[in-house]
Amino acid sequence: MHVRRQLIAGNWKMNGLRADGLDLARSLAAWLDADGTAVRDHVDMLVCPPATLVAPVADTIAGTSLGVGGQDCHAADKGAHTGDVSAWMLKDLGASHVIVGHSERRTDHHETDEQVRAKATAAMAAGLVPIICIGETESERDAGQALAVVSRQFNGSLPDGATGTNVVIAYEPVWAIGTGRTPTTEDVAEIHQRIRADARERMGATAEALLILYGGSVKPGNAAELMAIDDVDGALVGGASLKAADFQAIASAC
Ligand code: G3P
Repeated sequence: MHVRRQLIAGNWKMNGLRADGLDLARSLAAWLDADGTAVRDHVDMLVCPPATLVAPVADTIAGTSLGVGGQDCHAADKGAHTGDVSAWMLKDLGASHVIVGHSERRTDHHETDEQVRAKATAAMAAGLVPIICIGETESERDAGQALAVVSRQFNGSLPDGATGTNVVIAYEPVWAIGTGRTPTTEDVAEIHQRIRADARERMGATAEALLILYGGSVKPGNAAELMAIDDVDGALVGGASLKAADFQAIASAC
């Protein structure tokens, strides 16, 4: 068993209308508090629905062991930012975590490390745990730059004041997201070790408590192998988090 309590987080992305989303949340929560008690002893489970479903999901799972988080937040607390959601708003609904810097936002919305750091800072100020995503593209890996890119993103996206217990890091190689491809266990181990080493530089001893998740095509069939790697403290799951049985199987593989 891992030294750190693991976290399995589901990123639903832009999927889920009310009925299906609530069914999924309800069934995961019921499983976790009944058949999943062995999992619950050493794994936390979290779902990150689209912003439209954070409130009803939070209400649906209230009092259960399942957590809820957001997929993004604005760096400002409030103001003239049409269409955006602040960390305080997510906190107000019952969220405990928020994903920031996902590669889809870095690509679709041109988010930089500096902006991701500002969002993570806002999340921490609101009392949320930011799940800060970093990861190299395929061309960067092919060019032998994966370690350097991940290290640069980690240092550029990490807020001042971050410790091993108030942030979570998710390593998501861009080329593994939604493709069915995953890095070798050696490659995952190498990157996670680098992140841990960088975290020791930035956070001192608290880096030993830092959760470093792996994300990118995690499925029931590969979860046990990935989750057994040292310094892999859980997973950020996309597609497979939309099916209760798959998401439960991934958590059970920890
Ligand atoms: O944030 C999770 C993610 O980007 C991975 O997606 O569908 O490859 O599990 P997926």
